[in-house]
Amino acid sequence: MSDPLRNVELKATDPDPERSLAACRELGAEDRGVLVQRDTYFRVAAGRLKLREEQPGGATLIQYDRPDAARSRTSAYRLVSIDDPDGLRTALDAALGTLVVVDKERHLFLADAVRIHLDRVRGLGSFVELEGVAPAGSDLEPERAKVARLQEALGIAPERIVRGSYSDALLGADALIAAARAVMARAYAPYSRYSVGAALRADDGSIHVGANVENSAYPQGQCAEASAIGALVASGRTRVVEAAVIAGAAEVCVPCGGCRQRLREFMPLDATVHLCGSGGAHVESTLEDLLPRSFGPEYLP
Ligand code: THU
Repeated sequence: MSDPLRNVELKATDPDPERSLAACRELGAEDRGVLVQRDTYFRVAAGRLKLREEQPGGATLIQYDRPDAARSRTSAYRLVSIDDPDGLRTALDAALGTLVVVDKERHLFLADAVRIHLDRVRGLGSFVELEGVAPAGSDLEPERAKVARLQEALGIAPERIVRGSYSDALLGADALIAAARAVMARAYAPYSRYSVGAALRADDGSIHVGANVENSAYPQGQCAEASAIGALVASGRTRVVEAAVIAGAAEVCVPCGGCRQRLREFMPLDATVHLCGSGGAHVESTLEDLLPRSFGPEYLP
């Protein structure tokens, strides 16, 4: 069996894709153009398995293993070129099941044998990725050093680094709702007896939760969404890509007007808010549907 290929990679959120593009050009990185990629991830026993279909280009089956860590990490992978992607996708879906499909547009640059990916991922936003491909036998130190140099040149602050993969982040509606449900159990709601849990997924894939916290001086009570936003900001994040709220009631929890505005500060209008009830009721909405014609930071000078 052939040894896997290896690389050193780093993935980070990209709040300013225009700036990253300009930085790649300033660096003199070789522009390899824009690729439209669809990755289909299958359920597997170990590591990850995805079929990549690329325009322009062909199809590749990619098997890989990589620890989830918020720093540059090494990945061991195998690439198999595929002549019949439709046939393989159907066969693997029938045998293993499809986990998730990730659609993205990737602007590829090459600098010093490091691939720079400026990615726009459907449903997740913009990211920058660095991949230092290692020659066989490398101790990976040169690749780590090159990735670190480019990280600096592209101004990628450590707090922007993302753990996990795009597929994990996209998969997460169930995980997000489960997190909201778990924290709902810790709500302090002795006066209303209406427990609420909220979970926010930040742009790095991390999940932040909060419950409602009431007070005998009633107006001092706090909604679950406000608690979750506090946890988000305390952990150094300010961008939310998906939210879930759940109440200990049969009806789904609808965020109060004040919390819709609170979410508006940190979430794009087209992002999803899951409204859930503890018996399994679930309505998917966008923030814009909950708060049309809303006021936000962009109105301020
Ligand atoms: N509540 C929330 O936590 N979030 C909402 O968006 C709706 C209302 C809480 C506040 C209070 O503790 C209880 O539900 C009843 O209003």
